[in-house]
Order: sequence, then structure tokens, then C-alpha cells
Amino acid sequence: MNIQVRSETLAEAQADWLIVAVAESSELTGPLTDLNTALDGQLERLREADDLSGKVADAVAVLDVPNLAAKRLLIIGVGPQDELCEATFNKAMMTAARRTSDKHPVSVAVCVFPTASLPLEKAIEIAATAFTVGSVGQDLYQEKPSHTPFSDVTLLIESNSNEQQLTEAARRGAILGEAVNLTRELVNRHSGDIYPASFAARAEQDASECGLSCRILDEDALQDERMGSLLAVAVGSDQPARVVVLEHQGGGDGPTLALVGKGVTFDSGGLSLKPSDGMKTMKCDMAGAASVLGAMTAIAKLNLPVNVVGYMGLVENMVSGSSYKLGDVLTARNGTTIEVLNTDAEGRLVLADVLNYAADQGADRLIDLATLTGACVVALGEEITGVFSNDQSWCDEVLAGAKTCGEGAWQMPMFDEFSELLNSDVADCKNIGTRWGGAITAAKFLEKFVCEKPWVHLDIAGPSFASSNKPHREGGGTGCMVRTLVTVTEGFGK
Ligand code: BES
Ligand code: MN
Ligand code: ZN
Repeated sequence: MNIQVRSETLAEAQADWLIVAVAESSELTGPLTDLNTALDGQLERLREADDLSGKVADAVAVLDVPNLAAKRLLIIGVGPQDELCEATFNKAMMTAARRTSDKHPVSVAVCVFPTASLPLEKAIEIAATAFTVGSVGQDLYQEKPSHTPFSDVTLLIESNSNEQQLTEAARRGAILGEAVNLTRELVNRHSGDIYPASFAARAEQDASECGLSCRILDEDALQDERMGSLLAVAVGSDQPARVVVLEHQGGGDGPTLALVGKGVTFDSGGLSLKPSDGMKTMKCDMAGAASVLGAMTAIAKLNLPVNVVGYMGLVENMVSGSSYKLGDVLTARNGTTIEVLNTDAEGRLVLADVLNYAADQGADRLIDLATLTGACVVALGEEITGVFSNDQSWCDEVLAGAKTCGEGAWQMPMFDEFSELLNSDVADCKNIGTRWGGAITAAKFLEKFVCEKPWVHLDIAGPSFASSNKPHREGGGTGCMVRTLVTVTEGFGK
């Protein structure tokens, strides 16, 4: 897909679709005035008839536009001009991309203009990401795809703008979009395609293509590292566990950031078996690891001047004669003993060892991503990431990064009372608390393994997998928090 920035008027832009954003106000301003003139006042007539609301993601398609070089016109609402932000612009651009991408590759020209609340550079980046992500569906296994990447995306800018800077913003946006699509693809692949060894092989291949160094720890190496907690989860599966480590050394002798992902390639619940309804989407339980892989590829392609190491803890949680059982006491890598009272609380057992390994390997700060708890979905819904931390200033950096990307994230409390719920009579701790506040007890469990380093835990159980299609996004894997990770990495150590 070819994305470029060009200064051209709306009327002269050649494409299958011309896409123009319109704000929710009565005035047609800026480039829209000229477009209205070229269309003999059609925009004004639509507005008078109340057919052009300008509400966020409201789309009007005009198929007959003889005075334009483009074949068709799509007008997309962005809401009130003075409230325009990253999230609303992204929603509008995603809707436009999904509306115009077709079974066959088509070309689009998109008019992007600055507003007081959204700088042009950011708008260009968001558009480039949206047209990369919005033109790919979850149709991996279908004969006829519902969307195909565009042949050309031209981002139209005014002639007096800094073309070089905006071209760079478009390139960055495209790289972010490809990273999001990589994460989505891995999440969308079923567990017969993506299991620990095949995930690791794919990570190795993607890493070599963008110049990341890659290490794969197989079962023997994991034994040598004493990862008894992670290995116990995998023991009931025919698929052996793996840990993948990807490194980007761009920051010289500066500090190191570790990104850690839960990669349960299928979560049946183990002997604490999930009911069918809860198990149906559990191929998505490796979304944390897939987000780390996606983010690492973007960090490498953007050659960010930071040291970042990505860790992916890969296991399958299955039922068999060799499965780990309730009442088992595991010894984690850091020596902590864990009483297993629910084999479905497996993500924290995997992360305990991988977080500890990352901290030991010299990480100065950590972020983990995990589809960790249904409780977090109950608390925050399907669109918002739960944020948990032992260090407020590090947490604030991650929250700020999410905001810049328009990704919904909300900090949750970390009171010590929740840690007490994990006290066990037979081991140092147990792997579940009580029924209430389950997302917080899970986070308190993880906290025990980070060696008191500044750490942020992102519970993406809700937003990582969408149950249905919406105008602004495809169902299935979403690639949530990939852009946030890259943005936080960019500001790391500054
Ligand atoms: N992978 C699930 C959490 C999950 C739920 C992810 C819904 C995506 C959507 C996790 O391993 C799990 O099963 N958690 C249990 C924990 C409980 C046993 C303490 C849960 O949330 O029920
Ligand atoms: Mn589980
Ligand atoms: Zn799980």
C-alpha cells in the first residue's frame, strides 16, 4: 500500500474516493468552501436538508460528482471542531477507511487539515494508521475478503505546509498501522495455527526482517531458568512452552525498558475448565504477547534511540492426565511458592516468571500487557484498558502515552488489602483471591515478581478482542495499546 502526502486541491485530486472531514457546525470553512463551489453548492444543500450532520463518524457518500477528478466523494463527520481530539479523529478516519476499502484495491485521497486542538502532523499520522488498519479485515480464513488494502492513499495538504515533516508523520503512521495489523493477525489466527512454537517461529522471522535480535528459550532453557510457575501451566498441553526475547539496542548506555506479554495461545481454563461460552474466544489469550511483538517491530523500523527488550511468555493451558492440579504448590523463578487454587488463573503464573526474568536481566522499567481477568472487563467494559502500577510517575507516563494515541486507559487502585487476599496457609501465596476486585488481586500478585522496579500492568482482557464489527472497527483482534507502547518508548528516558 502506497501512502503519500501531496499538496493538491480537493477538486483536482484523482482517486476512486475523495474523503473529506467535516465538523459539526453550520459554517463550511477552509477547503470545504472551494469544494462546495466546485459541487455547485451541493454541500450547502445537504447541510440545509440536515443530511450532513458532521457528528463523529457520520458518513455521507456522494456517488455522482462530475466536477471532481475523483470518482466519488465521502464526507465524514468529526464532531464539534473545538472538541476534536486524537480519539474522535481516529474513529472518523477508521470509519472512512472501512467504508471505502473494498474487495478490490482502490485508491483514496484524504483531505487532512489542522485544527486548534489537533496538530496537522498528528492528524496525518492518525490518518495513515487508520487507512492501514481499516483496510484489513478478520477474513484470514475466508475465500472472499471483505476488505483489501488500498492501492494508493494520498493525504492532501495545503501548499504552504512542511511537506518533509508531514511525509515523515505519514511514514510513522503507516509503520504503526502495520504493527497493529501484525498484532491483529496473530490474535485472529486460531490455536491450530498459533501455538507457542509457531508463535516463536513467526516472531523470529518478523524480528529478522526488521533488524531485531531474537532469542528463543525452549523447555530445557526454561527449566534451567527455574521457571516452575510458567512451566506448570504448559505441562498439560502437547505443545511445549517457549519464551521469546526480542532486543532493540538503540539507546547506547541509557536505561532499558522491558515490554512483557502474556502469550497463552489457548486458555481452556485447565482442570478449572471454562464453560463453552467463555472458552469460545480464548485463542485471543496471547494478545499481550502479540502486542509486544507488534510494538517491537515498529520500534525497530522507526529506529527509536532507546534500549527496549520485548519478552513473550508462550504456553497453552489445556486439560490432560499431566495437567497441573488444584492444591499443587509451584516454585516460581524467584523462589516464591504458589498454591494453585484455580488453574484458570494461569496468566499470572506465566507472567510471574517472565516479569522476574525481565527484571533480573537488567530492565530499569517494565510494562506488561495481559488478557488477565474477566473482572477487569466487568469493571471497565470492553473498550478500556485497566492500568495498575507500583510507581505513579511511570504510570503517568503510560497514561499520557495512551491519551496521545486516543486509546482508552484508566488507572485502578493498588491497595495492600488486596495483597492479603492472596495469603495461603500452605505456601507463600495462592493464585486467586476472593470473588471481588479480581483485577486488582491479579495485579497485586504480579507485583510480587517485579523486584520493586517501576512497573505498569495493562489488563487488556476487554479491549484486545472485539466481539462484533462496528463501523469504525472490525471485530476480532484489535491491536490495542500497540501505538501506546511505541509512543511511551519514544519518550522513554527523556
Ligand atoms: N484469559 C482469562 C481472562 C479473560 C477473560 C480474557 C475474558 C479475555 C476475556 C484468564 O486467564 C482467566 O481465566 N481469568 C480468570 C481468573 C479467575 C479464575 C481468578 C477470570 O477472569 O475468570
Ligand atoms: Mn484463564
Ligand atoms: Zn488466560
